[in-house]
Amino acid sequence: MTIQLKAKQVSMRFKERVLFHIPSLTIGPNEAVYLKGDNGVGKTTLLKILAGLLKPTSGEVLPRNQTVLARLFSGAGRKDVIYLHQSPYLFDGSVYQNVAYGIKHKSLEAHDKRAEVISALRLVGLETLADEHVSVLSGGEKQRVAMARAWVLKPSILLMDEPSASLDQESIIRLVHMAEDLLDHGSSIVITSHQTNALTKLCRKQWWIKDCTLIESPLLQIIDKKQTNQESNYVASNSD
Ligand SMILES: Nc1ncnc2c1ncn2[C@@H]1O[C@H](COP(=O)(O)OP(=O)(O)OP(=O)(O)O)[C@@H](O)[C@H]1O
Ligand SMILES: [Mg+2]
Repeated sequence: MTIQLKAKQVSMRFKERVLFHIPSLTIGPNEAVYLKGDNGVGKTTLLKILAGLLKPTSGEVLPRNQTVLARLFSGAGRKDVIYLHQSPYLFDGSVYQNVAYGIKHKSLEAHDKRAEVISALRLVGLETLADEHVSVLSGGEKQRVAMARAWVLKPSILLMDEPSASLDQESIIRLVHMAEDLLDHGSSIVITSHQTNALTKLCRKQWWIKDCTLIESPLLQIIDKKQTNQESNYVASNSD
């Protein structure tokens, strides 16, 4: 399923401090956005607002959050929009159980659920650790379990908060494959990161939180411009 989220006149304030005011913002369907900004500008706060986990001080995000009753049955937050936490929470259980938890209530045959979980674990390279308790995992492995758990849910929008912070190159590439798979199926992704890498290179749009607002720009043009400059430099240096 694909959806579009629209934020209108969204402001966030903590006591007297205005974190940001964003007049208008749209995400999806099928977009990849790189959200950047210095420490403390409000990236995590914005993602939580988009996921429906945090209410902005003013303004709204459409479609509106589910009713309290609907949330009781489907968990907290906006349905179909998943926020992948900066330091993910895993519950007391095995790697397999943590990933399977996401699709516990899905109307799938047991063997199909199992196949989904195994596919997710293969994608993140953790199939050999399926039966391990999550407490023995490294920080990067926990991050990959959380990503696998998000992937099996096939969210319309996946908001990834610094997913690559504790990952090595190989693990980042695994996340790239997962993110590409979601994009191929029409989902949208937002990625925050303090460094550009293979994951952020998937993004075609940039949101930059700066001076208490959000500046949007197409990333393709920035990349193309750089490449064009490099190409013209190359042509210039070879035509001397
Ligand atoms: N519940 C809260 N009460 C008061 N202040 C808060 C609350 N939540 C966040 N803040 C403040 O809002 C600011 C933005 O926090 P946020 O976590 O969104 O930043 P960030 O851009 O994600 O930073 P980082 O790059 O370090 O992850 C911080 O200064 C933080 O202390
Ligand atoms: Mg943050």
